[in-house]
Amino acid sequence: MIPIGARPRILGSILGTVILWGASAALVACEEEPFSKSMTLGGKKVSADTLNAGKEAYTHYCRACHGDKGDGRGPAALGLRPPPRDFSQGKFKFAAVESGSLPNDDDFRRIVKKGLHGTAMLSWDVPDQELTTIIQYIKTFSPKWQKEKPGTPIVPPPDPWAGQDPAAIQRGKELYHVTTQCAGCHPNYATRDDIAAMTLKLKKFQVTSFRDDMYGSVLKESEYRTTLAPQDEPAVHIKKGAKSEHKEAKDEAAKTAAAKYFVVSLLPPDFVRTPLRSGDELPDLYRTIAAGVGGTAMPSWKATAPYTDPTTGEHWDGDKDIWAMAHYVKSLVNLRGTREANTMQDKLLHQPAYVAPPPLPEPARNDALENSRSEFWVWAKPSKNSLVPRCAAQPRVRSTHHLDGIAALGTCRGAKSA
Ligand code: HEC
Ligand code: HEC
Repeated sequence: MIPIGARPRILGSILGTVILWGASAALVACEEEPFSKSMTLGGKKVSADTLNAGKEAYTHYCRACHGDKGDGRGPAALGLRPPPRDFSQGKFKFAAVESGSLPNDDDFRRIVKKGLHGTAMLSWDVPDQELTTIIQYIKTFSPKWQKEKPGTPIVPPPDPWAGQDPAAIQRGKELYHVTTQCAGCHPNYATRDDIAAMTLKLKKFQVTSFRDDMYGSVLKESEYRTTLAPQDEPAVHIKKGAKSEHKEAKDEAAKTAAAKYFVVSLLPPDFVRTPLRSGDELPDLYRTIAAGVGGTAMPSWKATAPYTDPTTGEHWDGDKDIWAMAHYVKSLVNLRGTREANTMQDKLLHQPAYVAPPPLPEPARNDALENSRSEFWVWAKPSKNSLVPRCAAQPRVRSTHHLDGIAALGTCRGAKSA
């Protein structure tokens, strides 16, 4: 990430480069017409004319960072963190689709027009018609677009908590710290006693310890890769090699092994300090929590159907709870830059040591509980090793959210997502 103080200067030079490189490269682009045939991208037929126009406009507006090949290696990309998206990976973070699915054109429009705050991806003033062609052209960089269709758009339903802010915030706070384990990655914003009380209330579970540095965020590796060395971070050097009998494949494997790339790590935002990339109004927060952040550790909650734990009575209410968390995060975002934010964090950092109550009798529930939709929740002791996701009816797990704290949630293979 660009240090706050240096941002205006660095962005100034980025913009200079964008204009210079854009202008000279645009001249070249006019001479060639690289597309002679239409293509099917994201399930829609796109004409060669659109793609040629898109390439020209892309060269003008986007190439400086995202590069000629869409690989995020443009001349202005050096040292940027997060690095410009490598479109050849076909992965995106902020689309209003369940993370992992391809974005819809409206997602690209929103992202380009609004920008991603706190990154070099500013809001770009691209005329609509050109933007439409750029969006199609971007899809030619990854073969994924020729095979897959975009995900179903997540549209926020009406806010069920309208006019009941305090109740929404209280519910959101409990979910955040206990049920959905947001604080496994993002900071906690409650005292240890408060978290223990909320956990006991919802899960009938006695907290005995908390994660280290629980009032800070946990740095998470993402699925994004870049070959551009970061300027100010230690790099994780990944070596990839494949064994093969064939000379050709061996040479290829040697080349791959020699290629260096860096795993992009991301620090989940501290809501009372860090600006959010894709907007911090309530509907933006609903979208982020429902969709998750694609290619990162941040899970999607939209597909998790309402559920009641038969033993504790703990209830997950689907959309209504996603909205409650949006209200809670919004209440934290509202503290950003205020004295209350500092007072709250001071109080949390200087609270008395936690005295764990005597443990409850060993719960007979270190085990999977299932419902009719074959989803399971596993509640276990606060250790990853003790999580045992199980699907009795269909014994294979389709997906799990391994949340760093005490819970895991998953869906059994073959189960319909509601
Ligand atoms: C000054 C550099 C710069 C320019 C110019 C630029 N971008 Fe970006 N772009 C970025 C960075 C950096 C990111 C990564 C942000 C992140 O990962 O949070 C990004 C990310 C993106 C993403 C991914 C969003 C997601 O949800 O994953 C898209 C799409 C995108 N840019 C499109 C464009 C288009 C289209 C243009 C031209 C109109 C453009 N960008 C111009 C720097 C730039
Ligand atoms: C396993 C780790 C993890 C968990 C659990 C998690 N997040 Fe995140 N979250 C992240 C990461 C990583 C990012 C940063 C992505 C980035 O920098 O682009 C993030 C980003 C966000 C953002 C900001 C998106 C933006 O526009 O910049 C919000 C809001 C958010 N998380 C809310 C939540 C809520 C609410 C929960 C609980 C339901 C949650 N997160 C659970 C890892 C996590």
